[in-house]
Parts: sequence; structure tokens; C-alpha cells
Amino acid sequence: MKSSDLPIPRILIADDQVDVLESLRLLLKSEGYQIVSVTSPSAVLASVEQSDFNSVLMDLNYARDTTSGQEGLDMLARLQALDSSLPVVVMTAWGSVEVAVEAMRRGARDFIQKPWDNARLLAIVRTQVELSRALREGLRLESENRLLRQRSAPMIIANSPAMRAVLDLVHRVAPSDASVLITGEHGSGKEVVARALHDFSNRSGGPLITVNAGGIPEGVFESELFGHVKGAFTDAKADRVGYFELATGGTLFLDEIGNVPLSQQAKLLRAIETREVSRVGSSKAYRVDVRFLAATNADLKGEALAGRFREDLLFRINTIEVRVPPLRDRHEDILPLAHSFLGQFASRYSKGITGFDYAAEQSLSSYSWPGNVRELSHAVERAVLLAPDSTIRAADLGLTQPLRGEVRLEEMPLEDVERLLIHKSLERYRGNVSRAAEALGLSRSALYRRMERYGIKAAASEEETASRRD
Ligand SMILES: Nc1ncnc2c1ncn2[C@@H]1O[C@H](COP(=O)(O)OP(=O)(O)OP(=O)(O)O)[C@@H](O)[C@H]1O
Ligand SMILES: [Mg+2]
Repeated sequence: MKSSDLPIPRILIADDQVDVLESLRLLLKSEGYQIVSVTSPSAVLASVEQSDFNSVLMDLNYARDTTSGQEGLDMLARLQALDSSLPVVVMTAWGSVEVAVEAMRRGARDFIQKPWDNARLLAIVRTQVELSRALREGLRLESENRLLRQRSAPMIIANSPAMRAVLDLVHRVAPSDASVLITGEHGSGKEVVARALHDFSNRSGGPLITVNAGGIPEGVFESELFGHVKGAFTDAKADRVGYFELATGGTLFLDEIGNVPLSQQAKLLRAIETREVSRVGSSKAYRVDVRFLAATNADLKGEALAGRFREDLLFRINTIEVRVPPLRDRHEDILPLAHSFLGQFASRYSKGITGFDYAAEQSLSSYSWPGNVRELSHAVERAVLLAPDSTIRAADLGLTQPLRGEVRLEEMPLEDVERLLIHKSLERYRGNVSRAAEALGLSRSALYRRMERYGIKAAASEEETASRRD
């Protein structure tokens, strides 16, 4: 995420000297922070209980007891108990280093001595805000993963032999730390498989970090993946933790790996091989305990031959390849998926829709689904929104693609044959309904009725003619 997309950081400042509070407020406000100021330790506690802050900057000495800092120190433990991901920076009087050390021991993240140096104070606040974000994002993903784990196991629909074989392979390779390359057409369920690999692994208690390589501009790729240190480049205002480090203890899923810029592939390969990364601008290497998954719908072998993808990287990541078959090769999955989406969308949109009629099921089963499971889910969503009553009809689905040619007529249900013949004759007469009807031995209106039943749309010019006649 770009820093400009993030909400404005909120800082809570506490001091009983009003002039100190005011100059802190002006300084931090000029850096774009949102400030809440309070004058006592009890007000600190109350504010943190009530709302969310990215950092607290708190003086340790208050009027009642100006030297020992006891009141402020006591507050630290209570703040820790309230929210351990909230970074607290304490301010101490010049020379009282022991108090500062004691504060750090009790959970303060850093300290500032008064009178402070503006640049140092701002640098500390920036680092703490950045860290709290990384920490909270980690916590959020973890709880999200926990939710997904609870839901994801029964969510994978795999009735077809092709998909059962995939699930089988997933179960076998999930517990190992081997890298897996997931391939398959758009919308076929690669991400679903990646989640399953994580969920069925010993790392399921750790984070699953998904990164879309296609969404990261080349210039920031390295810093997003491996992190950077403050000052590594003009915009590097503070240290940044990269995705590899964030995924430690869990799984890093690099989606659309075919889009990793060639210039970055060597460093990625090194990270996967050595399980060590160094942040941009630093030579220090961090060990990262990460399981690596990647997905692509590109032909990486072809890309490698064309010199756009490193062959050594390809060999490193495709030791195990899970191929997610296109939906057209998983016929037995279509209706169970459709019913599952129907349930989800009917409840999301509070529509009392209970099923598909026969022609709708036929139309779902015979369509070739070039956009795979995602297209199916969109078609069902649209139908749920459009359907006028409790059953979805073929027309609500609006699937107009002709049936595939290789099916033998004598093996098809009569309705499919009729649908196919209508498509064929409309194709032959370039959408001219009158001529298609004539060829089929039907009246124009009888053909229209059938087209409606099968969800076949007339060409735009035909609709105009039809409505002009009505
Ligand atoms: N077997 C399945 N059972 C249930 N839902 C599925 C299944 N496969 C895919 N889906 C659903 O279909 C949609 C598309 O799946 P997913 O995002 O995993 O596809 P993808 O292959 O990663 O697509 P893309 O190539 O566009 O990134 C998602 O909403 C997903 O939840
Ligand atoms: Mg995907």
C-alpha cells in the first residue's frame, strides 16, 4: 500500500505543561499527524480505551510526583495490558537515563529526553508509527487467516475427478516446505488452492501473505518484497518491513509471478534459495522462515525460452506444479459451484431465491466457461440480482455462447440439441431471426419464445426491429 493510501496517523501526546503540549502539537501537526493532547496519566488511559492511536508520546513526570516518574511508569504497564501493539514513547527530564531505561523495561518502545531535538523526535515517532502499522497488519492478517481457515476447508468444491486429483495433490504436498507453482487459466481457483496449501500445512498458525506481482511497479518491487532501511532512497523516510519478513513463520504467496520484472528475478531466486533477505540500503541479511508459493496463468516455459523469465528461477519454483483444470474440464463441479454461489449471493442480497429451473441448469452445464469459476460466480450473482421470482431461469443467466462443436448430437438431451440448432442457424443467418426461424420451420415469434427460454439474445439490430414491430 502506498503511504498516501493510509489513514492519517493519530498520535496521543501527554504532558502536564501546556506550553510543552502546544509546541509538540504544532511540530507533529506540521508533519501531517493528527494529534490528541491530554494532561494526565489517567486521561491517557481513558483516551486509549476510547479510540485508536498509532503511537503515544508521554511525559513521565507529573505534578504530583515530579522526579521519580513513578506515575508515568505505572501507566506503562496498564497501557501494555490494554493494547500491546500500541507503541509508547516516553519523555524524561534531561539526565534521568535510569528512568528511561526502566520505562523501556516496562514496555516503552523508545524515549526522548527534554529538551528534545525536533529531528530526532520526529524520526522516533515516524519509526514507531510504521512499526505499529506492520505489527497491526500482521495481527489483522493472522486473525483473517484464522477466519479463512475455519471457512476455507469446506469452501473448496471438488466433485469432479480432475479437481479431486488436485485436492489430493494439495493434501500430499501441503505439509512439506517445498515451493509449489500453481498454474491454471484465469479464474480457475489458483488462489483457492494456494490458501488450501497454507491451511493444510504446519504453518497454518502463521500468516499467509499474498502479493500480486502484477500490481507492484518495477521501481518499488525490491523494497516491497525485501523491505528497506531509512534513507535507502529519497522516499525511504523510515525502515520498512518487506513481505518476506512479514510472512515469517507462514507462507508467502506470490501471485502472477510471470509479472516479476526480469531485473528483480535474480534477487527473488536468491531469497527463495537461501531463505535470507536483506533490506534495500542495508547489507545485513535476515533469515526468513517462509514457505514459498507462486501462481501464474502465463506459459512460463515459453516466457523462459523467449528470455523474459529466468530459467533457473522457473526450475526453482516448479519442483511441484499444481495444475488447476479449467472449469470446462470439471463438468461435475459446475452445478455444485453454482448452487453454492446461489446460496451466498441470495443471502448477501437478501433475495428469497432457492434454485435454478431445469433449462437454467442445462444452460449452466453446457456453457464452456472461458472465465472459469469466477465467470460462473459473476453469472450467478447477476442472475440472483435480476431474477424476478424464486427460481433462476436460463434467461436470467444470459449465457449466449454456442455449445461446443465436438459434442455428438445423439448423446445430447433434446433441449440442448434444440438450443444448439437455434445457435447454429442464427450464426448461419448472421443473427437474422426471421431467416433463422424460416430455416428451422418455426414462426418468428415461436423462435423468439425459444430464444428467451434458452437465454439466447437477439443481435442488437434484431431487437430494434422486434420492438418496432411490437
Ligand atoms: N473449487 C472452488 N470452490 C469454491 N469456490 C471456488 C473454487 N475455485 C474458485 N472458487 C472461487 O472462484 C473465484 C476465482 O477463484 P480464484 O481467485 O482462486 O482464481 P484464480 O485462478 O486465482 O484467478 P486469476 O487468474 O484471475 O487470479 C473466487 O471467488 C473463488 O473463491
Ligand atoms: Mg488469482
